[in-house]
Amino acid sequence: MELKIPKHIAIIMDGNGRWAKNKGKIRLEGHRAGAVNLERILEESIKLGVKYLTVYAFSTENWKRPEMEVKGLMELFSGFLSSKKKTLKKQGIKLLVTGSKEGVSDSLLKKIEETEKYLENEEKLIFNIAFNYGGRKEITDAINKILADEKREPGKPITEEEVAKYMYRPDIPDPELVIRTSGEFRISNFLLWEIAYSEFYVTDVYWPDFDEEEYNKAILSFNRRDRRYGGLNAE
Ligand code: FPP
Repeated sequence: MELKIPKHIAIIMDGNGRWAKNKGKIRLEGHRAGAVNLERILEESIKLGVKYLTVYAFSTENWKRPEMEVKGLMELFSGFLSSKKKTLKKQGIKLLVTGSKEGVSDSLLKKIEETEKYLENEEKLIFNIAFNYGGRKEITDAINKILADEKREPGKPITEEEVAKYMYRPDIPDPELVIRTSGEFRISNFLLWEIAYSEFYVTDVYWPDFDEEEYNKAILSFNRRDRRYGGLNAE
């Protein structure tokens, strides 16, 4: 049987801190190793024919981490954009950064905008980085945008289709598979609206160790699922 490749895969890259601790390194070393691993997973996504890859790089709750770790994560992200943009272009990767602008420095916002522009015509893989992202914030922002839309008839009931159109990335199809590394069965405010029917795969492997083989295991597991979207399977 031919392997079904999810069109959109979303990943919660968890376990960088534990990976570092196990190796007697500081947490930031774990995040650095996590960023390197991302390159491996991007490459494999292209090989497999995944069209959209969303990764959770920084949540709206991550600001609560120690100042040094937050600063380190910002620098790591900024360094990733500068040092990898040419490689991403060669690979045909289009970059989108999705989330809130609140609290993010002007220099980083500018770099994000420039990098997105630099890669805007690529189309082999859409690489969507959820950065300063919160699922509840995305839904709240959508509701506020609907309320502020002067073209809407006041008091008219809102439909699901309408809400979907006001999400941050209405053009990206919902993920078919969500992968979480390092063992926790939680969604942590990730893509709350978009994952309504996604399959969920959790592995104990820490993100920096989540290699091509582990990635393929997740896709194999997805292939064994019986996806019914609340209905019944045809006989
Ligand atoms: C969760 O691990 C990971 C994060 C909060 C950050 C993810 C960031 C990266 C993988 C690297 C940078 C990304 C880009 C796009 C360059 P954790 O720190 O919660 O790990 P722990 O649960 O073991 O402490």
